[in-house]
Amino acid sequence: MPAHEQNFFDIIILGAGAAGLHCAATAARRGRSVLVLDHAKQAGKKILISGGGRCNFTNMYSTPENFISSNPHFCKSALSRYTQWDFIAQVDKHDIAWHEKTLGQLFCNDSAKDIVRMLLKECSDAGAQVQLRTEVLKVAYDNENYEIQSSQGDYQAKSLVIATGGLSMPKLGATPLGYQLAEQFGHSIKPVRAGLVPFTLHEQDKDAFADLSGLATEIQASNDDASFKEAMLFTHRGLSGPAILQISSYWKAGEAVTINLLPDMDAQQALREAKQNSPKQGLKSWLQQQFPKRLTEVLLTREQWPQKNLADYSHQQLDDIATTLNGWQLKPNGTEGYRTAEVTLGGVNVDEVSSKTMQSKLQPNLYFIGEVLDVTGWLGGYNFQWAWSSAWVCGEAV
Ligand code: FDA
Repeated sequence: MPAHEQNFFDIIILGAGAAGLHCAATAARRGRSVLVLDHAKQAGKKILISGGGRCNFTNMYSTPENFISSNPHFCKSALSRYTQWDFIAQVDKHDIAWHEKTLGQLFCNDSAKDIVRMLLKECSDAGAQVQLRTEVLKVAYDNENYEIQSSQGDYQAKSLVIATGGLSMPKLGATPLGYQLAEQFGHSIKPVRAGLVPFTLHEQDKDAFADLSGLATEIQASNDDASFKEAMLFTHRGLSGPAILQISSYWKAGEAVTINLLPDMDAQQALREAKQNSPKQGLKSWLQQQFPKRLTEVLLTREQWPQKNLADYSHQQLDDIATTLNGWQLKPNGTEGYRTAEVTLGGVNVDEVSSKTMQSKLQPNLYFIGEVLDVTGWLGGYNFQWAWSSAWVCGEAV
């Protein structure tokens, strides 16, 4: 076979992550010749470290409402055509044992490696080639084919699929290549920022919470757009835990987050009843019934609540305390950024992409799948589900 034919494929996919690998296998099963290129030494690096090494690969309750996008309708078609149950069926076909941890989140019993092995096996069984350690130097289109110049040589393809993910965790190989190529071919990018990311605190709060590092408590974190009832974790850098990561994706810089420290309790009613039923109880002792000791101490100091018996507080004073407990206002200083973020919000403008096939509406035979698009899931397996769903509809069409 002449050299130029060896390097010609029906489809070249940039990015051997969750979306790229799933798309490659799907398209190759349809008889397409597929080459996946990635600069990393290993395929699916984010899968390998996800879910604490066990990969939270989907969510049983995944619906379009669990995704953030400037066009919330865009994700609907792909998510309904390739659902969590379709992916679970593939996981089952490969005999990968899994369990539900909480809130519909499905994890491998053993290791995230099982998911990467499964994706690579699906690729090799279908005849898709995966080539790692390949730097993409230049991409051009000659009105018929795409030409990719890389550190390993030049390749041509009829169709090009961009599956290079977002900017989170540059250490794992994240780069802006997908956005750059999108712009090269006339696409607009919705502003990107870190999502599912811990908050950093202003110096004053950092000092006040210094003793709480490692402490987790069930809260409800809210702003005008969303509300999540899950755990919050104090860290030596700021605030983390699922409730904080979730609300971070909806947080705007400079805004306060409302933290309900007693999400299952009407604190006003509870404090009024306590004052009536046990007037000699101190506020500190009442707080210690609700919170760990360390948190009680910090609340008393930070909020400057006098330590006296409940009977000695006026109704108004107790109501004010209750308001704080059910709606603590906390203004983060910022987030930890892409260094620790699980996802990137924003990305390739979905109004310029077909929701049925992920094909560009602006450029022939160009496709975008996975996190590079302006579709971001909640914490809990939703981001992988978006990778699987968008990859599959693309793989069926390309
Ligand atoms: P992904 O990032 O997986 O793949 C992109 C690929 O493109 C990579 O292999 C990269 O090397 C390659 N690439 C990038 N730039 C390139 C370049 N210039 N040249 C060549 N190749 C290039 N989600 C979830 O649902 N459940 C979970 O448990 C977790 N856990 C989790 C933990 C951590 C620590 C992180 C950082 C993220 C998660 N996520 C998650 C999010 C999830 O990992 C993410 O949304 C998907 O991996 C996105 O899939 P993609 O295929 O779009 O990108």
